[in-house]
Amino acid sequence: MANTILVGAQWGDEGKGKIIDVLTEEADIVVRTQGGNNAGHTVFIAGQKYVLHLVPSGILRPGKTCVIGNGVVVDPVGLVAEIDGLQKLGVKVDGNLFLSETAHLVLPYHRELDAQREALKGKNKIGTTKRGIGPAYGDKAARTGLRVIDLVNAERFEELLRQRLRENNEVLKAFGAKPLSFKKVHADYRAAGDRLRPFVTNTVVLLHEATRRGDDILFEGAQGTFLDIDHGTYPFVTSSNTTAGGACTGSGVPPHRMDRVVGVMKAYTTRVGEGPLPTENAEIADLLHGLGREFGATTGRPRRCGWFDAVATRHATMVNGIDAFAVTNLDGLDTLETIKVCVAYRHGRDKFDYVPSDAATLAECKPVYAEFPGWRTPTTGAQRWKDLPVKARQYLKAICELSGAPLRVASVGPGREQTIML
Ligand code: IMP
Repeated sequence: MANTILVGAQWGDEGKGKIIDVLTEEADIVVRTQGGNNAGHTVFIAGQKYVLHLVPSGILRPGKTCVIGNGVVVDPVGLVAEIDGLQKLGVKVDGNLFLSETAHLVLPYHRELDAQREALKGKNKIGTTKRGIGPAYGDKAARTGLRVIDLVNAERFEELLRQRLRENNEVLKAFGAKPLSFKKVHADYRAAGDRLRPFVTNTVVLLHEATRRGDDILFEGAQGTFLDIDHGTYPFVTSSNTTAGGACTGSGVPPHRMDRVVGVMKAYTTRVGEGPLPTENAEIADLLHGLGREFGATTGRPRRCGWFDAVATRHATMVNGIDAFAVTNLDGLDTLETIKVCVAYRHGRDKFDYVPSDAATLAECKPVYAEFPGWRTPTTGAQRWKDLPVKARQYLKAICELSGAPLRVASVGPGREQTIML
């Protein structure tokens, strides 16, 4: 399979968990390189639902090695709970999961600060997952973060936590929030540190040795292109590089070792949280929510929905170097008579065929639509390309062509078997 970076080509929630699970069959190692437990990757296997937040989806395939890379921010207590949950479901998490010693920690004050800052922003809030992701990456950039390597060194952790808690409790008090108890945080994190110690290693060396052996690595992106801290709709973004470059910095595997980039996109568009979404549309939101679809895997929030935005996905191809697309959720459109696709944005007298940098400008953009006839036939049973209605095939081909890379995978439902490989 070669080394593959998998990225979300929209605003996250593209169905990456399922595509990763399918592609993992051909990989030896699956690596998470950015984000934290703000991510929620859902995989269905034989009717059992698994939601993964920090552990790479490869854990569900026996014989695969999973790595949480240095670019991830890790809530150790959350990670232990996730491992316990997987083990309870009979999933082996022993000798097949490795955690980077240089990954940064999410601490309870990060979560509390995330909530306080959002509340203070009022109507200008980002709509974060409140998992403390922004404050944790903020500390990393400010060089005041704690890392996994600190967590597993009991003496050092105690000293650093005491220092950091002192300062952060002052900040929390300034917000009018309750300061955190050192004793409780220390006890919870020490216990988690003890549980995680066997998983902790130098994952840069591990991955380097794997590439030398010729192992195939799958880099599991979290969130999506337009939530990227540099290339997304700032400030309505997450705090990491969700685009392809993040796979290198977040793992220590150099760019020349990467062989291809697969972009995952839905057959329509969704977004959770605030920020511009040019093709947002009530008709499609009502349809999808009515079908019980498009509720967040991490927070349960209803996702905002819109028509497929080919301006955005073309931009994603440019920023990530996408070589091939996996299109998910085609079946969500099965009942529609006409399907719209945004092919350009209009802004006053200007026309954009890329996503403008300023979120305020993007929010004012009006989509220019092309229309496609719907197929009005269930697609969920399709297992081969020729099982799909002709109009569905035409739609899939058209959105990939407009997005600038060929279609390789089409998904018509959550199950592994509901996957069409081209
Ligand atoms: P944060 O990552 O929790 O700081 O949230 C920042 C923005 O990214 C918000 O709009 C979130 O809804 C969005 N976001 C974060 N993680 C995900 C994800 O895994 N899927 C979709 N949206 C996400």
